[in-house]
Amino acid sequence: MKNILYKSLEESGKILKEYMDKDFAVESKGIISNLVTEVDKRSEAKIIEIIKSEFPSHNILSEEIGAINEDSDVKWIIDPIDGTINYAHGIPICCVSIGIEKAGEIVMGGIYNPFSEELFFAEKGKGSYLNDKKIKVSNESVLEKSLLVTGFPYNTGNNPNKPVEVFSAFVNKDIPIRRLGSAALDICWTACGRFDGFWEYNLNAWDVAAGYVILTEAGGKVTDFEGKKYSVYNKEILASNGVIHDSMLEVIQNAKK
Ligand code: IPD
Ligand code: CA
Ligand code: CA
Repeated sequence: MKNILYKSLEESGKILKEYMDKDFAVESKGIISNLVTEVDKRSEAKIIEIIKSEFPSHNILSEEIGAINEDSDVKWIIDPIDGTINYAHGIPICCVSIGIEKAGEIVMGGIYNPFSEELFFAEKGKGSYLNDKKIKVSNESVLEKSLLVTGFPYNTGNNPNKPVEVFSAFVNKDIPIRRLGSAALDICWTACGRFDGFWEYNLNAWDVAAGYVILTEAGGKVTDFEGKKYSVYNKEILASNGVIHDSMLEVIQNAKK
């Protein structure tokens, strides 16, 4: 499956590069700021074509077309462009993300930013890699010395999960925070130690499936906002180097009270 995963990432990555400087159609999905472009659809079609030509019986869950359910215990979980708003504005902070779930467990994942030519890959039990070089999370243990990253749901205003209050709680501790606009890259950049922790509310399985295995194989920790066991179908994600995890949890929980 690894070779098909790489082929899917490389071929869809070429599409992202090819269309970046062209005119392409952009539409909103429900909420006005939630975009889908013609390039998301082209990227998705290419990935599914490659997977289906080799594994016609595998299940697919992909952001724009939804689920294709066959009778298989393997599911490819696809985000054809993560960071679509960046892409639509010509900002090269975006990627293709593909995770593979087998019997309910994420066993492999790859995330590729064709503009920086960075390909993150992990297979369960075999470590995490950036362009074939082994990566690991940072060892920062002091929250106030950490560099964090987050994102906001499309419906941030009036959200009962208080994303703004949680963000303020970290900012008020004078902790530097970035907002890249691609959850998949946020997680990869935590996996390779550029960031020490990431949190976000309201992500979908395609945003996080590949990142989950990449981060955990790099030695990181992932839970929900209560510190409980995480599943990629959870709405809450707290992903960190493991060492600052409890300190981040405390800030999030206090802010939500
Ligand atoms: C989005 C990005 C963004 C996150 C949003 C996601 P998309 O994915 O990952 O960083 O804040 O919640 O929906 O729409 O660009 O695939
Ligand atoms: Ca996404
Ligand atoms: Ca997407």
